[in-house]
Amino acid sequence: MSILEISDGSIKGNKTRFIEELELQHHKKWKEIYKEIGAVQTEPTNFMKENVHLLLKKDARVLDIGCGTGRNTRYIHEKGIEVIGVDKLEEAIKIAKLKAPDIHFEVADAQTLPFPDNSFSGVVCLHVIEHHLPEEIRQIIREIARVVKKGGILLLSTVSVRDSAKGNGKRLCDNTYIGIETFLDGGEIHHFFTRTELINLLGKYFDIIDIHHSTYSNFDQLETEDSSVKIAHWHVVARKR
Ligand SMILES: C[S@@+](CC[C@H](N)C(=O)[O-])C[C@H]1O[C@@H](n2cnc3c(N)ncnc32)[C@H](O)[C@@H]1O
Repeated sequence: MSILEISDGSIKGNKTRFIEELELQHHKKWKEIYKEIGAVQTEPTNFMKENVHLLLKKDARVLDIGCGTGRNTRYIHEKGIEVIGVDKLEEAIKIAKLKAPDIHFEVADAQTLPFPDNSFSGVVCLHVIEHHLPEEIRQIIREIARVVKKGGILLLSTVSVRDSAKGNGKRLCDNTYIGIETFLDGGEIHHFFTRTELINLLGKYFDIIDIHHSTYSNFDQLETEDSSVKIAHWHVVARKR
């Protein structure tokens, strides 16, 4: 299942059974998605694949925050890196554990991570912070900065204000919406980030090594040729000061 397929189908007017099913499912929260559909995201993201080498170091220990059903956690593990996956939803962690019994997964909230300061040499947080209100986002970044060691690497992906879904649904506050019909997880809050906002948020604790946009979907790794569909994600590589 993929967000891109929803967009492609609706825009080209080519209604497949798949899209009809998704229309019934829209406005869902991740809890319902995991319960009813299971592991919708199975392959590691391109950003993860392109940057996993940055996590490789002596005595590496990585935390995958909001790991979902563990697609990226498994990929990091396969590279021989010690990794822990956490997600606030038991439904996701259950599936993650079934898929990879050798990996340590646990239920935890990114706003109150159950780990001591400086526990990790790297943190991965892919498409998690956007599901929060601004104050919660600041708290998550504080928590990430607390658990990662000086010199540790952060790999972070999130949604951009340039995404064409911005503005759909009910506006909660600046760049923040709920009930986005074209998103499989439209029942979740979505905060759309500007570059400046991300740099200001992370720059308090991290040196930004790279920040760039991509328009391919993290959910299925495909490119879209349809110019009216803009799936715009930020990808950030940062190093803890
Ligand atoms: C879009 S999914 C991404 C999952 C995974 N990072 C991936 O790329 O496959 C968002 C996930 O973040 C989790 N999540 C959202 N807020 C969270 C929080 N405060 N603490 C932990 N997990 C959270 C959700 O439960 C969901 O599994």
